Amino acid sequence: MKTIVYSLYHHPLAQSISHSLQFTQGHCQLRSFPDGETYLRITDDVRGKKLILIDSLDRPDQKIMPLLYFAKTAKDLGASEIQLIAPYLAYMRQDKQFFPGECLSSRYFAELLSSAFDSLITIDPHLHRYKSLNEIYTIPTQVEHATNAIASWLQQTINQPLLIGPDKESKQWVSSLAKQIACPYLVLDKIRISDVEVKISIPDINQYNHPSYTPILVDDIISSGHTMIEACNHFINTKLQKPIAIAVHALFSNATYAQLSQANIDRIITSNSITHETNTIDMTSTLAQAIINEDL
Ligand code: R5P
Repeated sequence: MKTIVYSLYHHPLAQSISHSLQFTQGHCQLRSFPDGETYLRITDDVRGKKLILIDSLDRPDQKIMPLLYFAKTAKDLGASEIQLIAPYLAYMRQDKQFFPGECLSSRYFAELLSSAFDSLITIDPHLHRYKSLNEIYTIPTQVEHATNAIASWLQQTINQPLLIGPDKESKQWVSSLAKQIACPYLVLDKIRISDVEVKISIPDINQYNHPSYTPILVDDIISSGHTMIEACNHFINTKLQKPIAIAVHALFSNATYAQLSQANIDRIITSNSITHETNTIDMTSTLAQAIINEDL
């Protein structure tokens, strides 16, 4: 069956994956009418074909309608299968009603995507209270990880890393990464005060307090940046080198990047799940391999 790759928002991974797997890239016109409504037109013959739509779901509210229209249009035109590859999957953090009456957006967003697409592949979704995407997605899903790609970057670049997870949720990434590259790790304690305010405390680092170590903060997401800023600044009065911050998903809201660059930080490294100037870790081969081996 012939496969055509699309990207409504020109994600560079659509081009690199198509190139790597020798898939055709499709054409879709997308624009807004003067009143803000969406115009979308698929100009390829998609009958009987598998379509892969590759777009990250950062800034999801403005992207969701065009995505749903794309899937519905492709189905009407006779596509046999429509797969969404969302290198970054949105709305995973509201996984609980913290206060009565709150919108459980993770579940409703999953329902919307499940109603339009046949399957979903993503990278390191924020699985915290949900242990698997199957708890909220009714279509087959496949989760890929940035761990191998980050591990090989660390092995090639850093002599003596000390991995740091900024909060308990990050332990899953930090511990498996530490095991893979055989280095020590610590997990900090974080209390979230508000959307943009966090308090972090550092456990005893005495045994690693030596300039030969480079602290490497590893998290899934940098959003407001406050988690990373707080965590990096905790190393100011230590003998350790300036920390490197690694995140899988470069969400970077508003002034985050500028503020983070001013912190006690050596550099910021992200994967290209979301396009940003800090992208260093290329996810092309992980996703291409996922398509080849897919089990959906
Ligand atoms: C939280 O549970 C996540 O793993 C990240 O630590 C968090 O989303 C980062 O957010 P921010 O950059 O806004 O502190």
